[in-house]
Amino acid sequence: MDSEHIEGDLVDILFSEKQIQDRLAELAVEIERDYQGKDILLVGVLRGAVMVMADLARHFGRHVEMDWMAISSYGSGTKSSGVVRILKDLDTDISGRDVLVVEDIIDTGLTLSWLVSNLSSRGPASVEICTLLRKPEAQRMAVEVKYVGFDIPNEFVVGYGLDYAERYRNLRSIGTLAPHVYS
Ligand code: PRP
Repeated sequence: MDSEHIEGDLVDILFSEKQIQDRLAELAVEIERDYQGKDILLVGVLRGAVMVMADLARHFGRHVEMDWMAISSYGSGTKSSGVVRILKDLDTDISGRDVLVVEDIIDTGLTLSWLVSNLSSRGPASVEICTLLRKPEAQRMAVEVKYVGFDIPNEFVVGYGLDYAERYRNLRSIGTLAPHVYS
């Protein structure tokens, strides 16, 4: 039966709302320092990055622009293949722009390596990545991630934008699901 209190489905909370917000505030300070005198274009990758984008953007005390892409990776079930299709492209012409891609999680790194090469081909001044979470496999990829919130173990996590069958995205914290949820 569906529980009214979805946080109760978490068996372990990896990051509380406060830990997430504190880390995003730190990242925003770092980013502001690195981009002094430049106009940042934040590019969020739908749908998981919605929460990170909304909160990271509000930690800035300066102007930032936001745009969105929706991409779908062809893969078997939960495993991404690195073959990506654009479902919704940017509305912004990024040539000459300083682009910062905002992600919730990098798992295999395949999506991001495709995205970075796609965006780089459009002639931006720079393309960097900011992700809240990064899994171990991604650290072995060639794609350089400039801003990482937290490195996490190879566990399935939900909350704060991350879903299981489109649920749990609206949790304020991030955690692992109790086994009974899957059964
Ligand atoms: C997640 C995440 C990244 C991608 C990372 O999106 O937001 O875009 O997976 O995986 P990778 O490093 O193995 O390529 P997902 O495809 O789950 O879509 P969603 O954001 O709509 O939940």
